[in-house]
Amino acid sequence: MLIELTGRTALVTGSTQGIGLAIATTLADAGARVAVNGRAGDTVASVIAALREEHADRDLVAAPGDVTDVAGADAVLAATGDIDILVNNLGIFGAMPALDITDDDWRRYFDVNVLAAVRLIRSALPGMKERGWGRVLNIASDSAVVIPAEMIHYGMSKTALLAVSRGFAKDAAGTGVTVNSVLAGPTHTGGVEDFVYELVDRSLPWDEAQREFMRLHRPQSLLQRLIEPEEIANMVAYLSSPLASATTGAAVRVDGGYIDSIVP
Ligand SMILES: NC(=O)c1ccc[n+]([C@@H]2O[C@H](COP(=O)([O-])OP(=O)(O)OC[C@H]3O[C@@H](n4cnc5c(N)ncnc54)[C@H](OP(=O)(O)O)[C@@H]3O)[C@@H](O)[C@H]2O)c1
Repeated sequence: MLIELTGRTALVTGSTQGIGLAIATTLADAGARVAVNGRAGDTVASVIAALREEHADRDLVAAPGDVTDVAGADAVLAATGDIDILVNNLGIFGAMPALDITDDDWRRYFDVNVLAAVRLIRSALPGMKERGWGRVLNIASDSAVVIPAEMIHYGMSKTALLAVSRGFAKDAAGTGVTVNSVLAGPTHTGGVEDFVYELVDRSLPWDEAQREFMRLHRPQSLLQRLIEPEEIANMVAYLSSPLASATTGAAVRVDGGYIDSIVP
């Protein structure tokens, strides 16, 4: 199977690092013109410069802006132009005891992890429908299904994203536009190494440390190691491609078997 995205424009929110960066890179390597997004213009510019240094022919556009506010989202949309592939990757997470989560925390998680994605879908979907082709991918999490006791607010926002994906897939029914969510499992992104070494013996080399971490703290994982961002990006690239034309309204798992369920 050849994943070929030449001629398509993709916007990947929160793509200056982590899973978003891997997605932006993979889509660009499949031929898409990719809008790279983060809050600061200079960070976005240096990420684009680094990506071009690796491969000069990557077609990248800078789309800096805070997509959680209306003006920021408008600036990002204007920099991107017509969107064929929208990847709502931006998401915040953090641990908090359930009873300490304030009204403001609940609202902030909804605003950043759900409403920002909805706003971009609302802007991009009409054009996709008109052109008869489009892909919307919302990056959810195993926490959408296995609600962590220490991150109920995060779990709530990711469960909501599954509902949003399913609902907009219905809105796009029969138009050539697909809308799906991707449930990412525990992934090796920036900051995770520090987090792991807080919980296991610091003298262990990384490979052993992450296996120990998974054994002790994420025993449900069938993969028994953290997922690499590129492994999430591979699924997103497939779902973004014409090859995935019959997958819509789905929640697709790249969770290393973390969610103990036969049905996705
Ligand atoms: N990491 C995991 O283990 C894991 C597991 C399951 C699901 N996920 C989900 O995967 C997604 C990505 O996670 P990650 O760990 O790769 O994230 P991350 O490393 O924290 O990266 C976040 C990205 O978002 C950008 N960003 C933050 N606030 C922004 C805003 N208001 N507007 C625009 N960009 C903004 C950051 O760029 P700047 O700082 O340059 O603005 C950065 O590029 C999230 O939705 C997360 O919930 C992650």
